[in-house]
Amino acid sequence: MTVVLKTLAETGRRAIVALNVTNDQDDFVTSNAESLEEADENPDCVPLGIFVGDQAVGFAMYTLDADDGNWWIYRLMIDQRFQRRGYGRAGLRALVERMFAIPGCSAIYLGVVRENRTAAAFYLQEGFRETGQVLGDEIVMRLERKKA
Ligand SMILES: CC(C)(COP(=O)(O)OP(=O)(O)OC[C@H]1O[C@@H](n2cnc3c(N)ncnc32)[C@H](O)[C@@H]1OP(=O)(O)O)[C@@H](O)C(=O)NCCC(=O)NCCS
Repeated sequence: MTVVLKTLAETGRRAIVALNVTNDQDDFVTSNAESLEEADENPDCVPLGIFVGDQAVGFAMYTLDADDGNWWIYRLMIDQRFQRRGYGRAGLRALVERMFAIPGCSAIYLGVVRENRTAAAFYLQEGFRETGQVLGDEIVMRLERKKA
């Protein structure tokens, strides 16, 4: 199983907009349609499809936040039909690798809704740590690039 990240130019919007989380997870992540609108308005946002072969299974978006100068994962989701198959982990790892290859990106930030314990535990497993910062209802987590 190889998970690859594809740009919007490669995927088209339709495949991404068709992906949804479960009703229980709706409060944890913005819909992909809204995220793509955000990316339209903010060219610093980089939207990516998470693919297994020709099948779109998820969506991610990252950015260099102009306000704090930090690199953020703004979105990560796996469609409800494809969850619990390792795609989220593989997608996150591919995204982290891609971001750390960007000159000047030595740490990656993300916000997790406090009630989203599954995601917080998942990010913890992948090396992210709570910064102690809270933004609205989200706790901020951070992953530092390992020194070579
Ligand atoms: C969080 C999310 C991206 C994980 O994607 P996924 O493809 O289901 O995750 P994986 O199959 O790669 O599993 C990674 C690990 O996460 C944990 N995990 C994932 N889903 C879980 C669940 N429903 N219950 C408990 N643990 C879970 C497990 O530890 C799992 O590892 P394991 O299968 O070896 O035990 C996915 O659940 C999702 O899209 N959630 C809704 C949107 C969201 O919350 N995004 C994060 C916003 S910050």
